[in-house]
Amino acid sequence: MNITRRAVLGIADRPKVREVFETNPQARKLVERFIAGETLDDALKVGRDLASQGIDLTFDQLGENVNSEAAASAAVVGYVDTLRQLRANDLEPNISVKLTMLGMDLGDQVAIDNMVRILEVANEVNGFVRIDMEGSDYTERTMRIFTGLHDRFPENVGIVIQAYLHRAAQDVIDMIERGARVRLVKGAYAEPESVAIQSKKEVDENFRMLMRHLMDKGTFPAIATHDPHLIDDAIDYARKNTITPDRYEFQMLYGVRTSEQLRLKKAGYNMRVYLPFGTEWYAYYTRRIAERPSNAFFVLRQMLDR
Ligand code: FDA
Repeated sequence: MNITRRAVLGIADRPKVREVFETNPQARKLVERFIAGETLDDALKVGRDLASQGIDLTFDQLGENVNSEAAASAAVVGYVDTLRQLRANDLEPNISVKLTMLGMDLGDQVAIDNMVRILEVANEVNGFVRIDMEGSDYTERTMRIFTGLHDRFPENVGIVIQAYLHRAAQDVIDMIERGARVRLVKGAYAEPESVAIQSKKEVDENFRMLMRHLMDKGTFPAIATHDPHLIDDAIDYARKNTITPDRYEFQMLYGVRTSEQLRLKKAGYNMRVYLPFGTEWYAYYTRRIAERPSNAFFVLRQMLDR
């Protein structure tokens, strides 16, 4: 695990640090780079613009670790509204959700019931719901909940696998076998050695191996990375193995390598951008800061300049 990432994620919970992120105008500018706005209307506006350039989208209403059924239910209402509004606005109804925002901390059944409410609407509007993968304390339960939901809604729900996890290879095999749509990512949380590979080089190697396996045998896998080496490798591997571009997609985050997103789209590849919106942006934002030392140093400078 990268030291900068661990340090940023470690201090981000301190109230003083949070206050700077939330109030300092320069730090807020960086928030705007990664977040499409605080309301669904803001996100729809950004989404329409990207869609007009051929970019596919997945909308993420921000929030995680809610601790009441009322908050979880409010998240369901927000997501159902998002699916319907996307359909009404001629945008693909594609969303990404976190099970802890749907009440997983209150018990698996709460999250399952809430997911079913969302998936019934997704099914009705011919939409798709990706379950994001959170910290490793949740992995096993998330996979179990996902498989139950996938049995009921095979066309409407997909999962994320984090290449840094030791268990990732087995999960990829299992998901290929059940024909589930997988988004492959490196992994964004600070995880211990017991569950996750620590060296960047080895995470990248594992990503490459899993990516090739998914491209060979998976169901429309999403290669979700901004890493130019891995993207080049995917394109090269596809070409050599006659895997046509309609069989997989690239995914990137809103605000990260934007010109590359457009370049890949223009070159004939599917490109989906993860578009987060909402007022609960803090945890998502700190993970984006932690991913890149220059982002962390930028924020640090703002804090020292105060
Ligand atoms: P890497 O971190 O090596 O970055 C490669 C290059 O990309 C960097 O050199 C830099 O140029 C650029 N870059 C990457 N991140 C940047 C940033 N924040 N700011 C500026 N430049 C940046 N994780 C998870 O644990 N669960 C999940 O459900 C998801 N979901 C998800 C969806 C999508 C669509 C994407 C693209 C990513 C995720 N992630 C995720 C996050 C993922 O695990 C990972 O932390 C980030 O994608 C960064 O890793 P890269 O693969 O981009 O490589």
